[in-house]
Amino acid sequence: MAGKVPCMLGVLVSGGGTNLQAIIDCIEAGWLNARIGCVISNNADAYAIIRAQKSGIPVVIHENSGFSDRRKYDAATVEILRDHGAELVVLAGFMRILSDVMVDAFPGAIINIHPALLPAFPGLHAQQQALDYGVRYSGCTVHFVDCGTDTGPIIMQSVVPVEQDDSEASLSARIQIAEHKALPAAISLYAEGRLKIEGRHVRILA
Ligand code: GAR
Repeated sequence: MAGKVPCMLGVLVSGGGTNLQAIIDCIEAGWLNARIGCVISNNADAYAIIRAQKSGIPVVIHENSGFSDRRKYDAATVEILRDHGAELVVLAGFMRILSDVMVDAFPGAIINIHPALLPAFPGLHAQQQALDYGVRYSGCTVHFVDCGTDTGPIIMQSVVPVEQDDSEASLSARIQIAEHKALPAAISLYAEGRLKIEGRHVRILA
């Protein structure tokens, strides 16, 4: 890894930030050649903020109140990300759909982690959707972001079994273990320039 310029990340969060922590841990362990230029939270109470602060990462609390629509909010987000030199935008539990303003500002350079095997169970409460449907397996998906709800080209997926007596909490916890490996792995592939988007397909280059 020595000698290669680290990929600058802008990480967007809304909640607990365990995926943010996984990224931080992989960077600190020297496994992921990246730096986090800023963490942006749309929720002032997100524990992810504390995690970022503990690691000395700049945090911007960027709430949506005060913005008349999604595009204006996203335009302000783009400015923050640019100010911090972000090359890759990582949605790590960011609970908002992006408008064309964000998607067009970072073409092919926004990724999201979703707690289901897309295209099954997009949107909110994916784990509960999976339980309600009665699937035997769920998991997580890392994908590039477009303007749809969890519809962009898939980078990687991890399969997680659903147990008979799972609750939303127990299934979520099992899926998160997979998320914490998949998201840093996908970022690493991006940082190494090994992801090529071809229509709906993402080719992983050798
Ligand atoms: C994660 O499970 C992530 O997959 C999910 O939010 C959680 C955030 O956890 N994201 C979505 O549901 C987006 N549609 P974290 O804050 O502990 O990383």
